Amino acid sequence: MAGKLDNKVALVTGGAQGIGKASALLMAREGAAIVIADIQETGGRAVVESISAAGGRATYIALDATKESAWVEAIAETKSAYRGLHILLNNAGIGRSALLVDMSYETFREVFALNLDGMFFGMKHAIPLIAASGGGSIINMSSAAAMKVYANMSAYCASKAAVAQLSKVAALECAQGKMNIRVNSLHPGMVATPAWDHLGNGEDGAPPTPQELGAMAEATVPLGFMADANDIANAVLFLASEDSRYVTGSSIVVDGGLLLP
Ligand SMILES: NC(=O)c1ccc[n+]([C@@H]2O[C@H](COP(=O)([O-])OP(=O)(O)OC[C@H]3O[C@@H](n4cnc5c(N)ncnc54)[C@H](O)[C@@H]3O)[C@@H](O)[C@H]2O)c1
Repeated sequence: MAGKLDNKVALVTGGAQGIGKASALLMAREGAAIVIADIQETGGRAVVESISAAGGRATYIALDATKESAWVEAIAETKSAYRGLHILLNNAGIGRSALLVDMSYETFREVFALNLDGMFFGMKHAIPLIAASGGGSIINMSSAAAMKVYANMSAYCASKAAVAQLSKVAALECAQGKMNIRVNSLHPGMVATPAWDHLGNGEDGAPPTPQELGAMAEATVPLGFMADANDIANAVLFLASEDSRYVTGSSIVVDGGLLLP
């Protein structure tokens, strides 16, 4: 049966675990060749192995998305391995929690370096290859935190809001340049992934337990539960495929109603 992404090549940052991994596995099932670009080699290679074991094509590339030179190499490697690129899932992102007045500038920059600078580098260096490959789709992982403010999450909220605006400018420029490239930001709510292990109640605070997370979701998400990474992967597939051929410059929210007033 034909897949929605047959003959496409997709590069996924942060594809070693969580939302990136679920998206990579789903896009591979729909026929795309996958480049897992991550700093985590063991996890990245494990995802490549499971795609290969299922009959798909995948490669791991070591990428620190905060480094422009690493992006130049990753795009060149993708081009030589697959001769093109159609889908960029700019997914790698981090959150660090602290009151604004307690947050060090290093921590603030750490969050922006990946959440915003990394996406800028990714688009800057992938767009020419995607255009030369006939066009495609860029999905920038933002968050419901781009639209709703959370105490202790200043750098995260601000960087994710910037991702939405950056995506809209890129969408306009790609459309005006007749590149056949759509660019959208995706805004998940609470998703059960290992990312929560890094969030505490202060810079040295303990992360929330699964029970605490469940209670938080019940209290704040109208649907009453956290998303599974596959819930977000389904939206990634929509944005990556021709099903969304008329969608560009949009902020797509997948949040169980979290942003409802
Ligand atoms: N989990 C949630 O509730 C949630 C909600 C909204 C948005 N998001 C966003 O979704 C994205 C994925 O989140 P997740 O929950 O799957 O995270 P995660 O922490 O489970 O996975 C992040 C991945 O990014 C990789 N990574 C970290 N730094 C990197 C770097 N410098 N270069 C390349 N790769 C790097 C990690 O190795 C890991 O594989 C992030 O942008 C996050 O902000 C997550």
